[in-house]
Amino acid sequence: MLKLFLGITLLALTVFAADNFSRDDFPSDFVFGASTSAYQVEGAADQDGRKPSIWDTFAHAGNMHGANGDVASDVYHKYKEDVQLMAAMGLEAYRFSISWSRVIPDGKGPVNPKGLEYYNNFINELTSHGIEPHVTLHHNDLPQALEDDYGGWISQNIVKDFTEYADLCFRTFGDRVKYWTTVNEINVFALGGYDRGILPPQRCSSPFGVNCSRGNSSTEPYMATHHILLAHGSAARLYRKKYQDRQHGFIGINIFSYWFVPLTNTVEDVTATERANDFYVGWILNPLVFGDYPDIIKKNAGSRIPAFTKAESNLVKGSYDFLGVNCYNALYVKENPRTLQMEVRDVNADMAIELKSIQNDTSAFEFPVTPWALQKVLEYLKQKYDNPPVFIHENGQRTRRNSSLVDWPRVKYLHGYIGGLLDALRNGSNVRGYFVWSFVDAFELLDGYESSYGLYYIGLDDPDLKRKPKLSAYWYSNFLNRRSLTSVGVIELLKNSFILPPVQQHQSLL
Ligand SMILES: *[C@@H]1O[C@H](CO)[C@@H](O)[C@H](O)[C@H]1NC(C)=O
Ligand SMILES: *[C@@H]1O[C@H](CO)[C@@H](O)[C@H](O)[C@H]1NC(C)=O
Ligand SMILES: *[C@@H]1O[C@H](CO)[C@@H](O)[C@H](O)[C@H]1NC(C)=O
Ligand SMILES: *[C@@H]1O[C@H](CO)[C@@H](O)[C@H](O)[C@H]1NC(C)=O
Ligand SMILES: *[C@@H]1O[C@H](CO)[C@@H](O)[C@H](O)[C@H]1NC(C)=O
Ligand SMILES: *[C@@H]1O[C@H](CO)[C@@H](O)[C@H](O)[C@H]1NC(C)=O
Repeated sequence: MLKLFLGITLLALTVFAADNFSRDDFPSDFVFGASTSAYQVEGAADQDGRKPSIWDTFAHAGNMHGANGDVASDVYHKYKEDVQLMAAMGLEAYRFSISWSRVIPDGKGPVNPKGLEYYNNFINELTSHGIEPHVTLHHNDLPQALEDDYGGWISQNIVKDFTEYADLCFRTFGDRVKYWTTVNEINVFALGGYDRGILPPQRCSSPFGVNCSRGNSSTEPYMATHHILLAHGSAARLYRKKYQDRQHGFIGINIFSYWFVPLTNTVEDVTATERANDFYVGWILNPLVFGDYPDIIKKNAGSRIPAFTKAESNLVKGSYDFLGVNCYNALYVKENPRTLQMEVRDVNADMAIELKSIQNDTSAFEFPVTPWALQKVLEYLKQKYDNPPVFIHENGQRTRRNSSLVDWPRVKYLHGYIGGLLDALRNGSNVRGYFVWSFVDAFELLDGYESSYGLYYIGLDDPDLKRKPKLSAYWYSNFLNRRSLTSVGVIELLKNSFILPPVQQHQSLL
């Protein structure tokens, strides 16, 4: 134990001495924050008038390791305490999402005053502590009532209802919220929720998905994405017409992005990699930037992908002030032309690729530290999409939920990626901010409570759900406050740590 402690201290001093960048290398108007989303942290799932979303339904059907977000991190009741922690840490911004079914329980119709009151209080708490709210309107949590009523995002009815929900949010919170993101990870939501059926609303068809009782993997991912783009365009037009001049805010959309690396240098794999980018990124960004889907998607999906009318194309084209990017990883791409021979195809078959992990250690739970993945994504957006203003909305390290508070893998990951971000910025990328996923340990999309990404640990067996800082929380706070991680930080950490011995007996070592 003694040796372990000494080792950690030396490692701390080594890593922090090796810092060749600081907060001050970034522009002062660049923002650093942390992220969460409503269903993943709020809890209070059926309190004060909230009704279920498709994510509640998905979790309660047993799809998330038997767990659900009924309580999650209980931010609904603990938001004041959390804002204190954010302020103490020096967070400049906080990204969270509004639960649509908390403010409009049936997705349309009557508004829930208690839902509005909660977000009003929360936003006031943030702004009074000098923390800029960045708000997402849909983070995988469509009101279940709209799913039941007309199939949610697969129906064009969603455009009107989403726009009215967005209008309510702009009108109620827009005096204080300047950064609006309409929909989170459109591409992953469509692929996971409507093709593979591994995410809410769990729609798919055989042979592509698993355990789906309804859906159509050949058509619905394209339909859902089309309607999300139209709903986004409609909300953005409303914001610009009715609110932007008065509220001086910005509106954007969010995509998930891998950096794709050709598995080999063959023309086939290089072309397959371009195709992967067109399907993951171009699917969303080509309509936003150029007004239509990439040719390769239209060619391979044929009549299964809806065509933009001229008016729809005009609605979507240019309908963003910034782009939100969630980026964690790189993947290898290998061409897989066989799938194009299939008579019935889904989006993955249309893509005609195979993805392979770049992780050499296949048993590793943590992500490899590959900051170049983020740099390349930013360079790609710069070159192909006219260098849009970008916020990195999510980036962070996965560890086991109950692993040590001394989370070196997360510190190394954040240190690496923020360094890479600075390199990208210095090379002309129009990146404006960075948010660590996640502020506190959350209910994770694929892993439930098996993994965690938080800067703050929350014990699953702790009835009070007390927040405990991990080493990464100290590291990030020191970065934000332009300090290096001193031995004081390490001592503080060890006081809170449950795997290391009490600190007193080793203090002399420092
Ligand atoms: C910091 O050092 C690393 C390793 O030498 C280098 O790759 C990186 O570009 C440097 N970053 C900055 C911002 O100087
Ligand atoms: C599909 O459902 C079966 C039976 O409920 C279950 O055993 C299996 O784990 C499910 N598969 C997936 C991938 O969810
Ligand atoms: C999916 O939709 C297409 C086009 O409407 C149709 O041809 C196909 O049969 C549908 N597949 C399923 C599984 O319902
Ligand atoms: C995997 O191993 C190769 C060959 O040693 C190395 O070049 C690469 O950087 C490694 N990848 C990761 C993610 O560590
Ligand atoms: C904690 O993680 C270990 C694996 O590292 C696992 O075996 C154990 O079941 C986990 N315990 C809880 C309470 O999650
Ligand atoms: C820096 O930007 C230039 C111009 O966009 C580009 O050619 C170059 O590849 C970039 N460098 C890196 C390391 O991304």
